[in-house]
Amino acid sequence: MRTNNKLIVMNWKCNPRSIAEARVLATASDVKGVVVCPPAVFIHSVATKLKKASLGAQNGFWEEGAYTGEYSFGQLKSVGVKYAIIGHSERRLLFGENSQIISKKIASALAANISPIVCVGEKKRTTVSIAVKTVVAELNNSLTGISKENLGKIILAYEPIWAIGTGKNASLAEILPIISAMKKYMIDLSGKRIKIIYGGSVSPENVNSYTVSPFIDGVLVGGASANKQKSAEIIKKLHSLNL
Ligand code: PGA
Repeated sequence: MRTNNKLIVMNWKCNPRSIAEARVLATASDVKGVVVCPPAVFIHSVATKLKKASLGAQNGFWEEGAYTGEYSFGQLKSVGVKYAIIGHSERRLLFGENSQIISKKIASALAANISPIVCVGEKKRTTVSIAVKTVVAELNNSLTGISKENLGKIILAYEPIWAIGTGKNASLAEILPIISAMKKYMIDLSGKRIKIIYGGSVSPENVNSYTVSPFIDGVLVGGASANKQKSAEIIKKLHSLNL
């Protein structure tokens, strides 16, 4: 089974509790086109379980050395990580990550040959023009200094913060104008059409409302990805589209 050309990023966040559960979850998502992002402590074990899916990280640090508690993108690369989520709103809000930190992480991931999945999104449900202004400012602040060639390796995740973990997913009609503004911004900056995925309360019931659109390159799944039935169902639903 494969998931056509759409990307499904499974962000387990700080779940599950045990390595045994992590290995079961990994098996449920081991399908081509899926990126599995376990907590760092389980990455190595999950790597041994994945035969078709790719391995992703939820974070990384831009240096090696005297940085207690951190792990670098180079280290992640050495255990098989191909993608890294960077700038997730939970890291921005709960762990004080600002654009300066995010841009260092993006550059370091790229230097380690890891594709950054850069998350942007507005805090509250608002007008299209305010949402576009917010995400474009976030992109501007975190992508400065990155070469055109490297910009082409970035994946963007549009994640309206109000839709994350709330069960209130944004509709396709709501996200299309914002995603198309992001695409235009990236084409102007890099000359390339880069992948943009949607995240925020994606479920088996709503996944295909996004993936049917040629403008949406995939989904970033949080809560549902830590449930083996739901993740298997999301992959199955997307596969059934036969795009
Ligand atoms: P959610 O999380 O699917 O639980 O809304 C998405 C995310 O935080 O990336």
